[in-house]
Amino acid sequence: MSTTNTQFMQTLETPRLILRRPIERDVSKLFEMRSDPITSEYLNCDLDEDIEQTQAWLADVCKKMDAGDSVLWIIELREQNETIGTVSFWRWVKEHYRAEIGYRLLPGFWRKGLMFEALWPVLSYGFDRMGLHSVEANTHPENLASRALLEKIGFVLEGHFVENYFHNGIFHDSTIYSLLKSRFIAQTRIEFNHHYREPLGPAEGIE
Ligand SMILES: CC(C)(COP(=O)(O)OP(=O)(O)OC[C@H]1O[C@@H](n2cnc3c(N)ncnc32)[C@H](O)[C@@H]1OP(=O)(O)O)[C@@H](O)C(=O)NCCC(=O)NCCS
Repeated sequence: MSTTNTQFMQTLETPRLILRRPIERDVSKLFEMRSDPITSEYLNCDLDEDIEQTQAWLADVCKKMDAGDSVLWIIELREQNETIGTVSFWRWVKEHYRAEIGYRLLPGFWRKGLMFEALWPVLSYGFDRMGLHSVEANTHPENLASRALLEKIGFVLEGHFVENYFHNGIFHDSTIYSLLKSRFIAQTRIEFNHHYREPLGPAEGIE
């Protein structure tokens, strides 16, 4: 697996997290996540059946990153050095200065504010370093956690596509969210600064 650093892959840090490029030792946690039906409930993707599938997926991700076509960060707990999820700009449409974001955490780490914490520097990086004008997020309409997360950050619901996504013999609807750089700067930064003015211990909320 290539883990070459690329122009658009920089380690990001938050009070509780390190967001970094994937390395070989992430594969077992990634397999745990990608083979877990709970984590994948609304993702409409096939589960990995063995670790070789996860390795192949990660090799493909690294190839795309090396080519400058996408960016994926491993989300690691800073104090525990534990891999707990991923966040990515997995589709990057350069001519439109737009990318689609994707994210996933192992269920044991949900509802601790960790993805909210991770998305701030990732979005900031996308707008500031990748030159994005807008970020898209595509969710299953019933994925209430993801939708609430996006709305908390400032994403705006722009559309509901009916039966536009075919998986396992079923046509699924999609809700499409978007965040413009101007809105991110104007609104989300204020929210984030407010959030981090509160005293956050380095491992707050993590058992
Ligand atoms: C979606 C997901 C990443 C959320 O991550 P998380 O770290 O649990 O989210 P946070 O704790 O940062 O929550 C931030 C906000 O999102 C909303 N939220 C998160 N989980 C929620 C839930 N289960 N129900 C309702 N709102 C929820 C809340 O508004 C929350 O803010 P609050 O805690 O102040 O109320 C996580 O549930 C996950 O990995 N799900 C499986 C993969 C997935 O669906 N990915 C998205 C694909 S589009």
